[in-house]
Amino acid sequence: MRSILIAGVDLGTTKTCAVIAEIHEDPFLRRDLKILGVGQAPSVGMRDVVTHIEDATKSVKAAMEEAELMAGAKVDRVYVGISGEHVRAATSPGVVAVMDDEISALDLERVHEVARAVAHPPDRELLHAIPQDYIVDSRHGIKDPVGMVGTRLEADVYLVTCTSSVADNIRKSVQRAGYRVQELVLESLAAARSVLTEDEKEVGVAMVEIGACTTNVAVYCDGELRHLAVLPFGGATVTNDLVRGLSIPFAEAKRAKEHFGVAFAQLVDPQETVELPGPSPGQVRHVARELIAHVVEQRLDEMFGLVQAELEAEGLFDKLGAGIVLTGGASTSYGTVELAQQVFAVPVRSGVPGEGLSVLADSVGRPKFATAAGLVLYGADRYDETGDGASTLTSGLVSKVWAWLKEFL
Ligand SMILES: Nc1ncnc2c1ncn2[C@@H]1O[C@H](COP(=O)(O)OP(=O)(O)OP(=O)(O)O)[C@@H](O)[C@H]1O
Ligand SMILES: [Mg+2]
Repeated sequence: MRSILIAGVDLGTTKTCAVIAEIHEDPFLRRDLKILGVGQAPSVGMRDVVTHIEDATKSVKAAMEEAELMAGAKVDRVYVGISGEHVRAATSPGVVAVMDDEISALDLERVHEVARAVAHPPDRELLHAIPQDYIVDSRHGIKDPVGMVGTRLEADVYLVTCTSSVADNIRKSVQRAGYRVQELVLESLAAARSVLTEDEKEVGVAMVEIGACTTNVAVYCDGELRHLAVLPFGGATVTNDLVRGLSIPFAEAKRAKEHFGVAFAQLVDPQETVELPGPSPGQVRHVARELIAHVVEQRLDEMFGLVQAELEAEGLFDKLGAGIVLTGGASTSYGTVELAQQVFAVPVRSGVPGEGLSVLADSVGRPKFATAAGLVLYGADRYDETGDGASTLTSGLVSKVWAWLKEFL
């Protein structure tokens, strides 16, 4: 049976993660996405953006090959995540006169085109054009105007752009690894796709994805995307505080944070101590776990405060009926949800990919995989819309031969 493979690769600052998933073409099956392979490699040559093409290429190749081996299949194209402070997003309006009595798909296409026709500087490229609102003869809040009677159609379209050279370097790294970039996808859109529910988007929700160097924020209200922001802090900011606070190297501080870090100091037993490496090899020293927790809590508290300030500045904080969904690797410390609840004073939950995924879904069932899992879900949505973007696997034999060949390569 012919199956359709969708692949995604997330080039994070700390890890590059590849996911391969399968959509069955059988129209009678409920559409869910089977995760077939997941591959991970430490990211080298990335610091928010690609800083070294050769190294980034190696990370992509290693992660993709591991995912392909696990899936027993080869793919030729991938959806690739992009993020960073160079990303800009703003609403752009468009207006057209309706050609006949009722609004047609062509009118819709024209109004999108008008809204998209904003002159970008030559060093920027358009990543996404996302409709936020349609207005028919001054009536706002129309979700699908096609078929409605009206004379004037307006659209608010959210345009997301990035620096072209950053996009080109990502494309180059992926192409050199041997894959075609099907589409660059903003990481926060991918992460939101994997951890938010449609109900939350309707009621109002902010996804806050805390990675290593950046925190991606995506806000949805009334079912539509309202705001995107990329903030310049993340788990590495917390680690740097531990480097200073405990006078230990970055790698040790990161390990201490991941093993013993607690984000809400009052959850820690004040008597508990943990062992950290001492000043010379072979030595250990005992540190109060509460001390580590205080450092982690203080920094996360400040980061959440900055997220809240961003949401308030956009006038969106009061619209979050469903509250905040935290995800990303740096949201994993025990007590992060409790701390966030105290800071934001709205409902907070941890966002873990899983909805709409099956088979090996548990292998991406952690907050740090939100973007990678979201990329294949995004790709599957695009396949449903356009019939494009997939690699096809025509028989089980191909995958077995591929897996066998890999043993020798
Ligand atoms: N168990 C854990 N407890 C606390 N922090 C953790 C844990 N596991 C990972 N982290 C932190 O999460 C961060 C990495 O998160 P993630 O994998 O989402 O980032 P990334 O995608 O590599 O980076 P970015 O999205 O910023 O480019 C690091 O700062 C790491 O220390
Ligand atoms: Mg990330």
